[in-house]
Amino acid sequence: MERHLITSAIPYINGIKHLGNLVGSQLPADLYARYLRAKGHEVLFLCATDEHGTPAELAAAKAGKPVAEYCAEMHSVQAELARGFRLSFDHFGRSSSPQNHALTQHFAGKLADAGLIEEVSEKQVYSNTDKRFLPDRYIEGTCPNCGYDKARGDQCENCTKQLDPTDLIEPRSAVSGSTDLEVRETRHLYLRQSVLKDQLDAWIDSKSDWPVLTTSIAKKWLHDGNGLQDRGITRDLDWGIPVRKGKDAWPGMEGKVFYVWFDAPIEYIACASEWAEANGQDDASAQRWWRTDQGAEDVTYTQFMGKDNVPFHTLSFPATILGSGEPWKLVDQLKSFNYLNYDGGQFSTSQGRGIFMDQALELLPADYWRWWLLSHAPESSDSEFTWENFQVSVNKDLADVLGNFVSRITKFCRSKFGAEVPEGGTYGAEEEALIQSLRQRFKSYEEHLEAIEVRKSAQELRAIWASGNEYLQTVAPWTTIKSDPEKAAMQTRLGLNLALLFADLSAPFLPDASKTISAAFGNQENAWPEDVALSLETLAPGHKFDVPEVLFAKISDEQTEEWKAKFSGQ
Ligand code: MF3
Ligand code: ZN
Repeated sequence: MERHLITSAIPYINGIKHLGNLVGSQLPADLYARYLRAKGHEVLFLCATDEHGTPAELAAAKAGKPVAEYCAEMHSVQAELARGFRLSFDHFGRSSSPQNHALTQHFAGKLADAGLIEEVSEKQVYSNTDKRFLPDRYIEGTCPNCGYDKARGDQCENCTKQLDPTDLIEPRSAVSGSTDLEVRETRHLYLRQSVLKDQLDAWIDSKSDWPVLTTSIAKKWLHDGNGLQDRGITRDLDWGIPVRKGKDAWPGMEGKVFYVWFDAPIEYIACASEWAEANGQDDASAQRWWRTDQGAEDVTYTQFMGKDNVPFHTLSFPATILGSGEPWKLVDQLKSFNYLNYDGGQFSTSQGRGIFMDQALELLPADYWRWWLLSHAPESSDSEFTWENFQVSVNKDLADVLGNFVSRITKFCRSKFGAEVPEGGTYGAEEEALIQSLRQRFKSYEEHLEAIEVRKSAQELRAIWASGNEYLQTVAPWTTIKSDPEKAAMQTRLGLNLALLFADLSAPFLPDASKTISAAFGNQENAWPEDVALSLETLAPGHKFDVPEVLFAKISDEQTEEWKAKFSGQ
């Protein structure tokens, strides 16, 4: 039995995520976790909300709520949606947890002890009215380039020019609108990543099985320009993890917090402790997944993320871990995704363009979305959601192929042999051929899942369903029964067993449909096949079953039109 630690990039707390976010990390991570569990491996699958930083503060301010309250609420909303999509996290944690506070401060302390932290003095805009430093995006003013009067301190949204807050004409605080601003001196901690460059370089070189896309991004940051830059890990904000050196105060750092990108990946580790606590276990059961001196040496650690997250996972977080000098687990496999676009453009949270997780579940159950998203995962390039394509995919793959097969064979059997598996003759050439081909397909399905080739896995699964339909079509038990009832009974028995096999094989993609099918056979326990031929004998003659409810409803042209208009963002 293998042991697999799986993490998905932790979603920002500020709002409900769209389907592009979902398919870029959480959903494929769930597919992989479900597959490995089905194979009988020990899996710890973790995710959390990313709760610190300016976006969280801004979103809370917009909602008119204290930030801690806002985060607690949004965490429950996101957790509920994750359940709705059947994301099988062992724990869905929070980067604001006490565990993450302590661990983030611990890492900072270790890095300081190792001489890897430097204090740097900087100039930053301070608002006398708000009594706080303002991050770049909290400062608004008129763009010197195009005259737009709501340009932000980091960038003008209108003409896209990158700005410095001091470039703005008539700068004002985005918090209060006050123009009583001044530039003040402030001190921050920097992580001396440049010192770790060779160590990181060697570690990345040891990852010969990583995709080029991943290693090339990491190498670019390591070697381009001035090479790996030291990185500010503190901010002048109220909301966040207070800067401490382990358990001790950090003189000069009072009132400051760690930068969100410093504490967020540390939550991957802290989340295991949250999981242990939530399950009434002591912390050793969490360390068993993370500390190579406490049982994690045989763990395979796989991370899932969008491509924009790759530098943080290949360089910054490993720098934190390597720099600590402690034996924490480093990532083994890193699966990154391109972007999903929406109907000729991008998903846009601000313009309400595209489909968000809550809206998706109001329209259709999770399996419909899981299937489309996973079978169109943006792996080798960006991919695009269109309603037409979604309709075709649901109607053809789910309704016509899988759904139709299950309904046809169960209904046929019930009407001719009654609602139990019939007794009947032995396999002939068609059955042997089917089993041969299924063996082959099952093998490549497993190989694709093993390699986290999401689209290829989906294609193979679809081909497996289709071979069931082809078989039924060819042997036509409804015709055979007229001349050879024995043979028709055998074909029907095999057909029913195929339906159950499809349920088991589809479970990582379609957990609900899989349960519905196996429940119809009174077989709640989903078992991953060892051998195709053997598992096609699971249902013995006499085994009772129910005809399951319609598994997938087709999407009509009217629905497609209606939804398209509804989500166009206009
Ligand atoms: N919240 C970030 C995003 O959505 C991902 C953080 S991943 C972690 O892009 F590694 F920092 F945890
Ligand atoms: Zn401008």
